[in-house]
Amino acid sequence: MNLSALITALGGRRALQQLLDVGPSAVSNYMTRGHLPNRVKPIIYAALTAKGYQVRPHDLEILAGPTKLLMSDMITNSGPRIVLIISGGIAAYRALETARQLQKRGARITGVMTESAKQFITPLSLAALTGEKCYDNLFSLTDEAEMGHIQIARSADLVLVVPTTANFMARANAGIADDLATTILLATSAKVAMAPAMNPAMWAHPATKNNFTSLAQRGVHMIGPDIGNTACGEEGEGRMCEPSYIADVAMKLVEALPTNQPSRNVTSNQGQVGALVGKRVIITSGPTIEPIDKVRFIANHSSGKQGHAIAAALAGRGANVTLVSGPVTETPPGHVNLVPVTTAAEMLSACTTAIAGKRTDIAICAAAVSDWRVTSAASKKIKKSNDPSTKMLLELSQNPDILANLSTSENRPKLVIGFAAETENLFENAKAKRHRKGCDWMIANQVGGDDDPVFGSTTNKALMITERNVETWPKMQKTELAEKLADRIEAEFAK
Ligand code: C5P
Repeated sequence: MNLSALITALGGRRALQQLLDVGPSAVSNYMTRGHLPNRVKPIIYAALTAKGYQVRPHDLEILAGPTKLLMSDMITNSGPRIVLIISGGIAAYRALETARQLQKRGARITGVMTESAKQFITPLSLAALTGEKCYDNLFSLTDEAEMGHIQIARSADLVLVVPTTANFMARANAGIADDLATTILLATSAKVAMAPAMNPAMWAHPATKNNFTSLAQRGVHMIGPDIGNTACGEEGEGRMCEPSYIADVAMKLVEALPTNQPSRNVTSNQGQVGALVGKRVIITSGPTIEPIDKVRFIANHSSGKQGHAIAAALAGRGANVTLVSGPVTETPPGHVNLVPVTTAAEMLSACTTAIAGKRTDIAICAAAVSDWRVTSAASKKIKKSNDPSTKMLLELSQNPDILANLSTSENRPKLVIGFAAETENLFENAKAKRHRKGCDWMIANQVGGDDDPVFGSTTNKALMITERNVETWPKMQKTELAEKLADRIEAEFAK
């Protein structure tokens, strides 16, 4: 073993000290003896391969210099600082992949582990990946001298707990601060996000549900959990979300939202507090735009105001909202997962992807999807003829009906809601449309009246049509209508 070469490859003696959490005398000892203790070899192997070196595992001989996987290239000095807390569940190993995904997106990671997380992975494996020390001890004098818990808490743009066990949620909810991780949670003023992961029975327990709801009400952004094979081998709800998804949500939280954004208000007007917390919702909004040629298109007047207001109302009550939006000028609400699309085909594909392989509780189709698209859009600008009497003929094909697709999908969301804009016979047409498209509720608007154009307006008036019921909603702001609809949905899920 060429120890000097190893130390150089790792970035010098200080880097080795940091990686192994040892002092300078330990490194001098290794140098004198000319070899390393067996227990540190896997750590060094992981650190070197993460830097892109090809290393022989048994004697740590460097076979080739950094080639392709330059992990160090992923580590930036300027990205957002994410304090990644790993709590002790079997899914802890997936936290390493989450760290890698965050780095790929430009984040700098400070790793923190609970005692039980160390039963599953070592602080050194995270340190090797992040290139920074992983903290695990509240009372370590060196940590307090180098970077105390308050400093870690204050350095964070986001505190992200991956995985979040039932026990960790309970401690965090109770405000217990008996280790470094929970102390950081109390001390931080940064946003906090948690990705729960646990056995389905533990997830279903009322105590866990209470802790989850209460943390979400306090503004903790909950990511998941998903349905599927959990790390403990059982099938059901409780599986940790995919690391790449967690990284996407985390980066949105640090990039899109101002740090002083108030916590989410998970309350309702009707008192069913929390019925929407964690519910997975997909909302379509805005128009779709269908190209005619490279510069022209077919579109409509939809502003996206109503769909976006509904997304904001549901996210405000703790739902996990995916907003699939056509081109609009509306600012997307905070705390939603925005998927921008242009055409109806793209909107359908985004919706299908969003519901694939996971439970979706609610779908709301508020988009004004173009019914037609040009059968073969020209790839260049179509030139007009010099002869003004020449007619231009466009062949149109019918677009897929996204609402009908969602209503009949094998992953059909539990509650599917459509919007119907009608110029005449509002009730009859909307009722027939609800039936034809297979959705549960239809929100019907009269359009075309001079006094209330609906499209582009900030107000709306509507009928809410269900299988057995019709409610008349007077003219109100679209934001109020969104809250009213959220009340009805919340009541439905509180049943
Ligand atoms: O058929 P119509 O456009 O009136 O239906 C309105 C409802 O159907 C809305 O909820 C709208 O979002 C949805 N829709 C759809 N895909 C289409 C057409 C309409 O999802 N291609």
